[in-house]
Amino acid sequence: MILVTGATGTVGRQVVHQLVQAGRRVRALSRNPAAANLPAGVEVLAGDLAVPETVAPALAGVEAMHLISFAGEGYAPLETAPEIVELSTRAGVGKVTVLTGYQVGPVERAVEAGGLEWIHVQPVEFMANALGWAESIRTEGVVRAGFPDQPSAKVHEADIAAVVVAALLEDGHAGKSYPVTGPEALTATDTVRTIGAAIGRDLRLIELTEDQVRDQLRAAGQPDEVVESLVGFGTNPPPEVYTVLPTVEEVTGRPARTFTQWATEHAGAFR
Ligand SMILES: NC(=O)c1ccc[n+]([C@@H]2O[C@H](COP(=O)([O-])OP(=O)(O)OC[C@H]3O[C@@H](n4cnc5c(N)ncnc54)[C@H](OP(=O)(O)O)[C@@H]3O)[C@@H](O)[C@H]2O)c1
Repeated sequence: MILVTGATGTVGRQVVHQLVQAGRRVRALSRNPAAANLPAGVEVLAGDLAVPETVAPALAGVEAMHLISFAGEGYAPLETAPEIVELSTRAGVGKVTVLTGYQVGPVERAVEAGGLEWIHVQPVEFMANALGWAESIRTEGVVRAGFPDQPSAKVHEADIAAVVVAALLEDGHAGKSYPVTGPEALTATDTVRTIGAAIGRDLRLIELTEDQVRDQLRAAGQPDEVVESLVGFGTNPPPEVYTVLPTVEEVTGRPARTFTQWATEHAGAFR
């Protein structure tokens, strides 16, 4: 049995799907199982990572688990990580993959200090973030974005999940931190052009100022700390943001999916 936390999210949903495809028994944790909408055969249990005792029942009989590193809105670091790790160790969980956020936090520290076999999966920007443009593309044919010429090695959510699933199911990954990127560094201008080609429509990109980017991120519920680190990625990006790495192919044996593929798969959201 493999426990997937964050199973209703962008990455977790893909992790569940790929584990089911691999023929594994999957249990999902959700604060709202009634709304989880996961594949048949997946056992969905109620639990809140911020309230560790509610997670204990979901850990029974689990051999490996995928753990998100945040809790609640705004991706605040999961401060209950030491308790979650202790409960997991006591339940006999052998291995944990961690979906890391923008910075290493309490979950990474707790799993490294605990007795579990751990693997950190550190994605760069998700291709799926482009879904935030879906409404303005559908209604106006327009994207409003900051830093339109800044490249990003954005990654397909299915590839993040594929790295997680390989690490969960195979031996030889313990103690590794896998930075995960897509196969090319693309600017917002490139990305908008690719979505336009996928839906057969000319799209217009309107550049936002730095302050407008801050307002947009705050309106999306991001805490100030995350807002400032994302604006920093735009104004003065560290090389990790745009450097393409071979991790997906090295870990999964398959090349990383392109943004053209992502845009074709998601064209319906933009029409
Ligand atoms: N977007 C990016 O470009 C990007 C890039 C790098 C890293 N990241 C990191 O990726 C993570 C976000 O992943 P995502 O986009 O897949 O998530 P998401 O789509 O926003 O989904 C959030 C998931 O977390 C679960 N969740 C939230 N709080 C919970 C709690 N207290 N207890 C149990 N489950 C809880 C939700 O489950 P229920 O609602 O069902 O309970 C849901 O499945 C963040 O750590 C972010 O920093 C994102």
